[in-house]
Amino acid sequence: MSGAARHRPLGVVTRGTTNPNRLRRVDNWIVATCADRLLAAADPLVVDLGYGATPVTAVELRARLAAGIRPDVRLVGLEIDPARVAAATPAADPPGLTFARGGFELAGLRPVLVRAFNVLRQYDESEVPDAWRTMTAALAPGGVLVEGTCDELGRLASWLLIDADGPRTLTLAAKLTTLTSPAELAERLPKALIHRNVPGEPIHDLIRALDDAWQAAAPYATFGPRQRWLSAVTRLRETGWPILNGPTRWRQGELTLPWPQPQP
Ligand SMILES: C[S@@+](CC[C@H](N)C(=O)[O-])C[C@H]1O[C@@H](n2cnc3c(N)ncnc32)[C@H](O)[C@@H]1O
Repeated sequence: MSGAARHRPLGVVTRGTTNPNRLRRVDNWIVATCADRLLAAADPLVVDLGYGATPVTAVELRARLAAGIRPDVRLVGLEIDPARVAAATPAADPPGLTFARGGFELAGLRPVLVRAFNVLRQYDESEVPDAWRTMTAALAPGGVLVEGTCDELGRLASWLLIDADGPRTLTLAAKLTTLTSPAELAERLPKALIHRNVPGEPIHDLIRALDDAWQAAAPYATFGPRQRWLSAVTRLRETGWPILNGPTRWRQGELTLPWPQPQP
């Protein structure tokens, strides 16, 4: 009996909406910031949980990890909907890319990294802590969960890096050429934060501070949105927000910071 068959998949079938390339921002961030974990692993196993109606974003994640970190990465796409597992099977390319039925329990697998994108947004906020606990309990030692959400085309995205102790970092990411204001990111926050964008909550303070910094950086728009974003991130840092990762990542329209964190 396979690992997937021994475990009752935890969770519910939700809408399967996906789109080619819409998870590029989080994938590129994983390649840039999570390579050490995968390189150190005896078994470089990664799970893409809830890949949706077509496996396109799982295929892309495997290709990016294989090209950017190590060619022998093994990606397993897990879906709770058996019809979506059957639909994905022709795209399998074993041993590097396979598909199976599974839920938050991860089907008995012990991955180093799990990407769960646009999965929890369709659950109730009250279900999030248990889902995180179940997924992180199944990870290999030192493993991490990357849980987040994005818009239809992947122009706005945000995600949390989570381990057995809870969230460690929050990343906000945007396609800068189409970004009017960082406040747009409030619509695309992870489920744990999206209902907390109200005065008094740290995520509200962050988005307001980022938006203020973006407005203050308006003169840099002459040099393009990338320069404006860089200036805004630098200002945010100067006001005390402990922004991580440095300008190479900021230039991509990203902002990563420890989460949760005390107020500046
Ligand atoms: C909106 S799609 C996301 C597709 C893809 N990850 C993306 O972001 O483009 C969400 C998928 O997650 C699946 N899903 C929901 N809960 C799940 C769970 N607990 N375990 C595995 N898959 C789940 C649903 O069946 C659905 O196909």
